[in-house]
Amino acid sequence: MSTPHINANLGDFAEVVLMPGDPLRAKWIAETFLHDVKLVTSVRNIFGYTGYTKNNKRISVMASGMGHSSIGIYSYELFAKFGVEAIIRVGTCGAYQPDIGLYDVLIANTSSTDSNWAHQYQLPGTFSAGADFDLVLASVAAAKNKNVPVHVGNVLSSDVFYNANVDAWKKWAEMGVLAVEMESYALYCNAAKLHKKALCILTVSDSFHFKGELTPEERMNGLSRMIEIAIQAAETVAD
Ligand code: HPA
Repeated sequence: MSTPHINANLGDFAEVVLMPGDPLRAKWIAETFLHDVKLVTSVRNIFGYTGYTKNNKRISVMASGMGHSSIGIYSYELFAKFGVEAIIRVGTCGAYQPDIGLYDVLIANTSSTDSNWAHQYQLPGTFSAGADFDLVLASVAAAKNKNVPVHVGNVLSSDVFYNANVDAWKKWAEMGVLAVEMESYALYCNAAKLHKKALCILTVSDSFHFKGELTPEERMNGLSRMIEIAIQAAETVAD
């Protein structure tokens, strides 16, 4: 069985999928954190892998690409066609608040947007997109367990990386929005529409308040902490 964007068979994916944006990061996560890994899809080099955590829970990792359109396609096909029950996005974001530092970890319990994504549902109002509450609790507990401080709150899921309105971010920041990324809103909407679970965990890669440089080691350590939190949360829903 195959969908337009995934050439896998039903059953090839675990019930829970970790979803970074970058296909090479998906490969790195599978090789670094899982064992007995199988490549299950590679259409357009959007690699998907299924393997086992060190606690022998079966989970998958697949890239989402960038933006609502891309994660919208992959998360829809995984939820609707491949029996996936939960998707945990593991991405990066730009911090909107001055007290959020580079490589801090954020858990997006809610997602705001400048996108017209929810227009398709023809709702008589504005849809508020949220993470699965049990996954939020599990990820916060995992972070506590690993002594990693986290910010939990609202993120902006934007259609635009290079915004012509250079001050638009300040309006969101005034509303307490923690950071900006480009995928959580479509992911949370697909999960809501299809009665599935989703969560978005983010590492801060840049800030709207200051410039900063991290060494490659700091970068890797920052990402590893996030992946370990995501895996512990994923294990609570894994098959
Ligand atoms: N904007 C949008 N998405 C992002 C950013 C950003 O500054 N940083 C990481 N993902």
